[in-house]
Amino acid sequence: MTVDATQIAEGAPEIAPKELVDWVAEVARLTKPEEVIWCDGSDEEWDRLTSEMVESGMFTRLNPDKRPNSFLARSLPSDVARVESRTFICSEKEEDAGPTNNWADPKEMKETLRGVFDGAMRGRPMYVIPFSMGPIGGPISQLGIELTDSPYVVVNMRIMTRMGTDALKLIGEGQPWVPAVHSVGAPLEPGEEDTTWPCNDEKYITHFPETNEIWSFGSGYGGNALLGKKCFALRIASTMARRDGWMAEHMLILRLTDKNSGKQFHVTAAFPSACGKTNLAMLQPTIEGYEVETVGDDIAWMRPGPDGRLYAINPEAGFFGVAPGTSHDTNPMAMDTMQSNTIFTNVALTDDGDVWWEGCDEPLPEHLIDWHGNDYTPADAEEGKLAAHPNSRFTTPAAQCPIICDDWEAPQGVPVDAILFGGRRATNVPLVAEQYEPAHGVFIGASVASEQTAAAEGSVGALRHDPFAMLPFCGYNMADYWGHWLEMQDKLGDKFPKVYQVNWFRKDEDGRFIWPGFGDNARVLDWIVRRADGEVEAIDGPTGRYPKREDFNLEGTSVSEEDWDKLFQIDPEAWMKEIDATEEYFSQFGDHVPGPVQEQLAKMRERMEAVKNS
Ligand code: OXD
Ligand code: MN
Repeated sequence: MTVDATQIAEGAPEIAPKELVDWVAEVARLTKPEEVIWCDGSDEEWDRLTSEMVESGMFTRLNPDKRPNSFLARSLPSDVARVESRTFICSEKEEDAGPTNNWADPKEMKETLRGVFDGAMRGRPMYVIPFSMGPIGGPISQLGIELTDSPYVVVNMRIMTRMGTDALKLIGEGQPWVPAVHSVGAPLEPGEEDTTWPCNDEKYITHFPETNEIWSFGSGYGGNALLGKKCFALRIASTMARRDGWMAEHMLILRLTDKNSGKQFHVTAAFPSACGKTNLAMLQPTIEGYEVETVGDDIAWMRPGPDGRLYAINPEAGFFGVAPGTSHDTNPMAMDTMQSNTIFTNVALTDDGDVWWEGCDEPLPEHLIDWHGNDYTPADAEEGKLAAHPNSRFTTPAAQCPIICDDWEAPQGVPVDAILFGGRRATNVPLVAEQYEPAHGVFIGASVASEQTAAAEGSVGALRHDPFAMLPFCGYNMADYWGHWLEMQDKLGDKFPKVYQVNWFRKDEDGRFIWPGFGDNARVLDWIVRRADGEVEAIDGPTGRYPKREDFNLEGTSVSEEDWDKLFQIDPEAWMKEIDATEEYFSQFGDHVPGPVQEQLAKMRERMEAVKNS
């Protein structure tokens, strides 16, 4: 039995506009769900869906004394990360997707999707999820509707976005919205028993930037399925931002307050996936005098404000963080945030109904259920098996973060003072370098490269170029996106924030991290803030302007003079290779690479030649 258009119209909330109801009916005609459920975002809905999922085996309820209102899900081993190889930008022209995106012709892809979505929701309900990215009704916020056959997606979207009736009301008032369709692609025949993680081996994560549409098929996991996040807030939003003169960035946002003067600074920072962005967003400074508050941990939407400065909002309402390595040592604020009302995916389950992962607070217990659902003992650990998947996640409400900024939901955003770019770099890249000029800032962003992590499929550890940490998330030609940055810089002039390159991950010859990282990263922020205030000078170096050691607060760290030198050591031979690799990387974009970015590459080469010949 599938639902028909009349039933859909009758079941729709009164505030749902006809255009929306018609679209829902059209998608239902194609996907043939058993029923259509309009989500209101209420607690009752959460309770009903989570209980149903506990009943069906998709969720395990965690011990309510330890982790109230929290659940564990285990995905299939074939569905544990974003699938970049199956992510497509379907722009009219291939050139507009650029060489770093998978491109597909929009008409052909629509044809393919019509095939795979035909009957894809059979035997399942289709949920209609109205949501807002950004505070409801805010001037920088955007609305969307996700249709999905996954209750797991509904409850995750409830944490990650402002989901439900308030968003639908705005849509009813005629505000524009982005349509997003998702199916796990696992129709059920009558009487067929469901699995605990339905999905399809074939996956399509598709974006239509000219029409702002998203269609995702086959995966139930993370960014493939929670379409507000990477698909909307980055890929589609980056194309909207280019059209309308704003910026959609893969950046955390934090507020740093100088407790003595009361002065506030706002910093945004882009790092490739799983490079400790959540840790930086919730940093606990090891130096006196500063306080950090979190505005966002993953995405920033930025617009020029009335005073000509750049203002940022976090379009999300929750954190979808990587669990392994998160502990009270590395990120106490994240640990406190996920104490309740949290969904864990692919972590291990303890015998007392709590969660465990590699690098958490607790030592390995005698017995666990691992992320595959199997018994796991210290003998498995000795064999090198992991109890939690390296990309296992927590989905948790941002509002629960003990250091969430008072202004994290300020509709107009917070003014940005500095922008950081980083990556995991064992060699070459100094601890911190300031841009020489705005175009150099764009060059710093464009030349980000990082050792690959488990957030996407691929070989962990390999160095990959990840310009602006946007490689998998830019909805259009990456080099045109650099051009958009240059335009925004021109528009805002000296009000555009300065760019800094940072690297917490440099290692010495023995493979030891030279910089302590975590809370000590506040020392780098401290230098940046003092630079902004004109308090300290910088030394011109080959990759940017570096701090003088005497200006940098190293008090109480184990960083020796020798370590400091290593953190800023430049090996011109290695750098020449890096510059050649960057040049080759840029060459794939042909004449889309803006002239000023090419010039910066030439300037970098000159500076490095000078070091070599000195
Ligand atoms: C994320 C990612 O999940 O970048 O934030 O992969
Ligand atoms: Mn991310």
